[in-house]
Amino acid sequence: CTEEEQSEDYLFKVVLIGDSAVGKSNLLARFARDEFYPNSKSTIGVEFQTQKMDINGKEVKAQIWDTAGQERFRRAVTSAYYRGAVGALLVYDISRRQTFDDIGRWLNELHTHSDMNVVTILVGNKSDLKDLREVSTAEGKALAEAQGLFFIETSALDSSNVAAAFQTVVIEIY
Ligand code: GTP
Ligand code: MG
Repeated sequence: CTEEEQSEDYLFKVVLIGDSAVGKSNLLARFARDEFYPNSKSTIGVEFQTQKMDINGKEVKAQIWDTAGQERFRRAVTSAYYRGAVGALLVYDISRRQTFDDIGRWLNELHTHSDMNVVTILVGNKSDLKDLREVSTAEGKALAEAQGLFFIETSALDSSNVAAAFQTVVIEIY
C-alpha cells in the first residue's frame, strides 16, 4: 500500500490537560507550528491538530487535542474529549503552585474518562520563568514517580523540551 495508507495505521490521540493558563495551547502551537503567543486567550471548546512525527524512522501521526482548563468552557465535551485517547500531557505551571496542587484532580478526571493505560507525562511548563519558580524540579519528579508518570519540564516560550514532551508520549504508545 502507499505511504499515505501506511501512516494511517499509526494515528494516536493525545490530550492536553491541566489548569487554565498553564500553557497547553502554546505547547501545541510551538510543537505543531513553531509559534508562540505572548497574550493568548483561553481556549473555548475543543481544538485539535494532527502532527506527523518521525519515530525510529517511521512516520507516525499524533492527533493532539486541546481544550480549556476552566471547567465552564469544557463541561459539555469532557467525555468526548477523553474518548479514545492513548496519551496525555498533564501540564502545570512551575511558577504557580496551585496548578501543581491541582494535578491530582486532573489525574482523577483522566482515569474516570479514559483507559488506565493512557501513557501520561507530567509537564512542568514555563521553565524559562526561573526567578518566579514555585515548584522545584525535584517535587515534579517525585510526584511523577509516585503516580507512575513520565516527567519533563518545558518552555513553550523558548522551545526547550517541547518536542521531547510529545515524543516521549508517542514513542511509548508506539
Ligand atoms: P486555557 O486555554 O485557558 O486552558 O489556557 P492554556 O493552558 O491553553 O494556556 P495558554 O497556552 O493560553 O497560555 C497562557 C499564558 O501563558 C499566555 O499568556 C502564554 O503566552 C503564556 N505561556 C505559555 N507557555 C509559556 C512558557 O513556556 N513560558 C512563559 N513565560 N509563558 C508561557
Ligand atoms: Mg488553551
